[in-house]
Amino acid sequence: MVNLFDNDVESWERLARTDPLWAVLSSDEFHGEDLSEAAAERFWESGEQHVEHVLAIIRGELDPGFEPQVALDFGCGVGRNLVPLARRCRSAIGLDASPTMAKRCEERLAECGLENGAALVTGRRIDPGPLAPFGPVDFVHSVLVFQHIASDAGLALFDQLLDLLAPGGRGFVQFHCKSPGGAPARALKALRLASPRLNALAIKSRIPALRDVVMLYEYDVLDLLGHLGGHGVDDIVLERIDTGGGGYDARLYFAKFAGTDEEFARAGRPMKLRVRP
Ligand SMILES: C[S@@+](CC[C@H](N)C(=O)[O-])C[C@H]1O[C@@H](n2cnc3c(N)ncnc32)[C@H](O)[C@@H]1O
Repeated sequence: MVNLFDNDVESWERLARTDPLWAVLSSDEFHGEDLSEAAAERFWESGEQHVEHVLAIIRGELDPGFEPQVALDFGCGVGRNLVPLARRCRSAIGLDASPTMAKRCEERLAECGLENGAALVTGRRIDPGPLAPFGPVDFVHSVLVFQHIASDAGLALFDQLLDLLAPGGRGFVQFHCKSPGGAPARALKALRLASPRLNALAIKSRIPALRDVVMLYEYDVLDLLGHLGGHGVDDIVLERIDTGGGGYDARLYFAKFAGTDEEFARAGRPMKLRVRP
C-alpha cells in the first residue's frame, strides 16, 4: 500500500525538480518554462514582504522589541521566506521533506551570499538533534505548508514545532480552515484522503479547480488554539484571510510564556486572544 507521506514527498520532489517556483506559488507567471526575470523577482520579493509583514504584526501586537535570533521555517521550499529570515536573524534554519527543495533553498541562500542559513531535510517527524547546534529557537514560522499535510499528521508536527520554541519565543503559522465549495468538493476531498494516488494526481494537476478542491487539508481553529495553549502559548493574534467562495485561512501570530511549564500551570494557563479584523 502506498504511504501518504512518501507519496506526497515524491510529488513535491517531482515538482521541485521540474517547476519549483510554481510548486510554491501556483500562479501561471511562475511556471518554469516561461519564467521571466521580472516574475522571478516578484516571487522572491513576495517572501521579503511576507516576512516584513509578519514581524510588523508581532512587533505591533505582541512584542514591540522582537528581534528573532534563531528562526525555524517549517516547509521552507526554495527559500522564499528563509532568505528574508536569514537577512534578519543570527541563524535561519529551514526544514523540508523534499530533498530537492532543501537543495534549491541552500543554493538560493548561497546566491544571496547568506552563510547563516541552512535547509535540512526532515522526515515524517522533526528530529530535534540537527537543530540543537543552532541554539534555542526563538521564532517558528510556517506558511503554505500545513494545508498540504493531513490534519492528524499536521497537528503532531505542529506540537513538535511548539515544543521546539523556547520559552518567551514568538511564532507565525498559517493553516487552511475552510475550503470553498459544498458537498461535491467535500466528496472529492474524502477521495483524496482515501487514495494517495489521487492525491499525487491532485498535486501534479494543472487544473486549478481540482488542485484547489482536492489538495487542501482543513484544520479546526479551536483545535489549533488548544494545541497552542497546551504548549505554553499565552498570547495569540488570529487573522482570518478569505480565500474566496466562503473558504478561509487562519493566520496565527503568537507568543510563548517566558517561564517554565510549572510556572505557566501555576499562573492558571492564561491565554489572551485577539482577532484581527
Ligand atoms: C507550497 S510550498 C511552500 C514553501 C514555503 N513555505 C513558501 O511559502 O515559500 C510547500 C512546501 O512544504 C513542503 N512540505 C510538504 N509536506 C511537508 C512535510 N510533511 N514536512 C516538511 N515539509 C513539507 C514541500 O516540500 C514544499 O516545499
